[in-house]
Amino acid sequence: MHTYEAKKFNLPSLEGISDESVKQHIGLYEGYVKNFNAISKQIAELAMSDSEKYVHAISELVRRRSFEFDGMRLHEYYFTQLEGGSTALTTGGPFAKALESAYKPFTLEKVMTMIGSMRGPGWAILYFDPEAKELLTGFSGEQHQGHFVTLPIILALDVWEHAFILDYGAAGKGKYIDAFFKNLNWDVVEKRFAEIQK
Ligand SMILES: [Fe+2]
Repeated sequence: MHTYEAKKFNLPSLEGISDESVKQHIGLYEGYVKNFNAISKQIAELAMSDSEKYVHAISELVRRRSFEFDGMRLHEYYFTQLEGGSTALTTGGPFAKALESAYKPFTLEKVMTMIGSMRGPGWAILYFDPEAKELLTGFSGEQHQGHFVTLPIILALDVWEHAFILDYGAAGKGKYIDAFFKNLNWDVVEKRFAEIQK
């Protein structure tokens, strides 16, 4: 059984997202890694011990496991996008063209802000469908529901309250989303897009 290790992120000081908020947020990420490993181990132990007797406990653990996995993986996408500091989107590049084709007259920031502002905890996510060759945006409630199955993730915006409550209060989601885009390393996002085109 594979044991996942929490990754380290080389983050600069962010504009509008405090170091303390980032530190606490990384702590939550590490919790997902730890809990995914723990649940995997527990499922195996219960199944080996008496899979009939523990059928309901096993079922519940199986259900919860994707919550932990998706929390782990999405935070890895999230923090990686903020590594290396803010860079600009390449004007006229393949990714900019794909954005234009999907969203014109709107910008991606506008679309992601609209989705990110939806009620409830979750993630605003930009995916790419290699079959339609088109970008798709969606909202994953918590983090394990509402995904476009199999579609690779290009950009993941965490809009759980823990991402902004320390800096902006419970009503500060909009300000936090603005800050997120100010700090975004578009190079990372463009590279993800380019990888899928190969
Ligand atoms: Fe988070």
